[in-house]
Amino acid sequence: MVERNVVKLSENVYWVGSRDWNRRLFDALIPLPRGTSYNAYLVIGEKENALIDTVNPGFEKELEEKIHAVIRPETIDYVIMNHAEPDHAGAIPHIMKLATKAKLIATNRGAKMAQTFYAVPKDRIKVVGDNETLSLGGKTLRFIEAPMLHWPETMFTYLQEDKILFPCDFFGAHLAGWLYDDEVEDLLVHAQRYWGEIMMPFRAMAQKALEKIQGLDIKMIAPSHGPIHRNPEHILDAYRRWANGETRQKATIAYVSMWNSTEKMVKQIAETLAAEDVEIALHNLAITDTGDLAKDLVDSKALVLGAPTVLGVAHPLAVYAAYLVKALRPPIKYVVLLSSYGWGGGAIKHVQEVLGQFKVEVVGAVDVNGPPTEENTRKIVEMGKVLAKKIKEEA
Ligand SMILES: Cc1cc2nc3c(=O)[nH]c(=O)nc-3n(C[C@H](O)[C@H](O)[C@H](O)COP(=O)(O)O)c2cc1C
Ligand SMILES: [Fe+2]
Ligand SMILES: [Fe+2]
Repeated sequence: MVERNVVKLSENVYWVGSRDWNRRLFDALIPLPRGTSYNAYLVIGEKENALIDTVNPGFEKELEEKIHAVIRPETIDYVIMNHAEPDHAGAIPHIMKLATKAKLIATNRGAKMAQTFYAVPKDRIKVVGDNETLSLGGKTLRFIEAPMLHWPETMFTYLQEDKILFPCDFFGAHLAGWLYDDEVEDLLVHAQRYWGEIMMPFRAMAQKALEKIQGLDIKMIAPSHGPIHRNPEHILDAYRRWANGETRQKATIAYVSMWNSTEKMVKQIAETLAAEDVEIALHNLAITDTGDLAKDLVDSKALVLGAPTVLGVAHPLAVYAAYLVKALRPPIKYVVLLSSYGWGGGAIKHVQEVLGQFKVEVVGAVDVNGPPTEENTRKIVEMGKVLAKKIKEEA
């Protein structure tokens, strides 16, 4: 048996997770500059043992060895599945095979998913309701339903005696290194990036979950990705702000440009907004990191989209960005559209169609034939001033 690093978080509570240093993409969409971790936890009671969540496929053996450093895997009585996504539930078949007497604990929806995704037999699943408790002997687990964070079956597990909340994906960050929140200088940046992609589309559900756990005495939050929060107030504060849709005096500018015409327009509005003391985050969609873009959308009040016409419609990268904005549902209030075309145009109409039902005020659109003229630029400056005023009035 290889020697494995496990960490004691509290008496008889251990981190037995895996660090995926080399992973560079999540959901085949979001870059992971610093990898990620799949955190699993062991809770050892006087009478019974529980494993909270598992790890990504490929890390089964590592998880087994880590559990072994604390107890024999056969002695696991319960596998708690807070979330059915493979990065946390992928090793369930392996563990259920080792721990022959173990029962899987999940919400009602989770139970169905465990059967479909992981072929767990129905008679090995124990469905738990909201606020139900399970005593392991001196360690009491309370299950808190927290649906749609970010799948329908999600729940949190709270260890009452130690006051530790295991919320799975909620409060997570994609970071392979570090164990505790206070060891990472820019943790909130990573947490915001993670929120932007995973949790932002479910702000209403996040608010409900935050209200639900408000009365809990939480000493530690142990999520399934990234560092464990032993100073939980920081991440709780940030989550309250993000879930409420609190924004800064900030505009995200996302654009693509083939021959620099749209780029000139975009850079002009960036100058005007900056001169008006609006914080700006500029993303060239041809080279930007989608995670960074998602992060900036979390607390921006406005979006400027620069989209030239290609083949009668908007450039594919601008379509992608408009679609992403609509899907992630950021608390953006205002939109400005900037475009350049060669002959017939069509990009502005197209991005408006893509944005569809996304509720925003379109402050204005400038569609220029070829490179922007002085007259066009004056119009953009004017529009930038109007946008800045709206952004600042709101704050
Ligand atoms: C591959 C390609 C396809 C284009 N298709 C159209 C088109 O269908 N309709 C149009 O009005 N202009 C079209 N154009 C012209 C561009 O919209 C025009 O050059 C514009 O100024 C480009 O803005 P940019 O410099 O920001 O890339 C096309 C240009 C390219 C390179
Ligand atoms: Fe997930
Ligand atoms: Fe996850």
